[in-house]
Amino acid sequence: QRNEYKAQYNILDEAAIFYQDQLKTHAHRDQAVAYLKSRGLTGQIAKIFGVGYAPPGWDNLLKKIGGTPTNLELLEKSGMLIRHEEKDSLYDRFRERIIFPIRDMRGRVIAFGGRVLGDDKPKYLNSPETDTFHKSRELYGLYEARKLSQKLERIIIVEGYMDVISLAQFGITYAVATLGTATTTQHLERLFKTVPEIIFCFDGDNAGRKAAERALETTLPVIKDGQEARFLFLPEGEDPDTLVRSESKQGFEKHLDEALPLSEFFFRSLAEDTDMTTMDGQARFSNKALPLIHQMQTSLLQQMMLDRICKVTGLSLEQINSTINLTQSTPE
Ligand code: UTP
Ligand code: MN
Ligand code: MN
Ligand code: MN
Ligand code: MN
Repeated sequence: QRNEYKAQYNILDEAAIFYQDQLKTHAHRDQAVAYLKSRGLTGQIAKIFGVGYAPPGWDNLLKKIGGTPTNLELLEKSGMLIRHEEKDSLYDRFRERIIFPIRDMRGRVIAFGGRVLGDDKPKYLNSPETDTFHKSRELYGLYEARKLSQKLERIIIVEGYMDVISLAQFGITYAVATLGTATTTQHLERLFKTVPEIIFCFDGDNAGRKAAERALETTLPVIKDGQEARFLFLPEGEDPDTLVRSESKQGFEKHLDEALPLSEFFFRSLAEDTDMTTMDGQARFSNKALPLIHQMQTSLLQQMMLDRICKVTGLSLEQINSTINLTQSTPE
């Protein structure tokens, strides 16, 4: 079984080399290069991330690498070829797109993302889940971040490929992206094994703010003393790519230094539609907050957040604990 995966890694590596090669040699390469330039990418950063080009056509990869039945099977298994059920034939998944190879922590190519060169939809296409690619575990850019930084002290979680690459180009070489999924417990556990501090930095739009709220709920049960999670909210319409372009490394890092600590974001978002000057508002707030705080690991932070509820409501810790016990079906 290990051999079978080895062959799969090898063929994905060949595919990555093929796409990078096309960016250098294909007759339509000018379009792709012009697009990358229009996004402000240098050749150097494109090379570090292994950016490539899938030319137009249904069978470029298929012809180049799918020469044997074994290879065809491997390419289909790894999601690079799609089977047309009626015709019972195979065709390339990635066509006429900028290609971003997705690497695992060991640097092996495990999947790809592809972006259209214009405004067509869907804008991005990703490899499907396979035996070797699990979106709920993998983070785009983690391998590169570890390679580019002497010592990682913090990691930024962003939404997209272009955010990771742009930040790196401007010297912020410690960003990673989830792959079209929400941040999972597994992502966080992996990151906290690498660094003590995570900063979430999603796009300055409604989807980005929703993603931050979900990330908060995923982080609460995971975070331990000695670890820190913070949230950076970007101005409306900006994403990390556009912001680092306009403000450069220093400007962006200033925003990072001002990111909201987890507890601040927690209380702020729970208090949002609540009138905290009334008893009813305070009760509503506490009823939302307590079950979430209860999910946290026993920690100083948990204690302090409980203290904060005491201050807000004027209740004692004993009163609050007995409320938690009443609302919790199985006390610990
Ligand atoms: P965005 O649309 O915010 O990406 O989606 P972006 O990086 O800002 O895109 P551009 O290139 O600057 O316009 C964030 C991420 O969500 C996933 C991709 O992983 C993308 O990087 N996504 C987005 C998809 O999987 N499919 C889509 O159609 C769009
Ligand atoms: Mn977005
Ligand atoms: Mn963008
Ligand atoms: Mn974006
Ligand atoms: Mn600013």
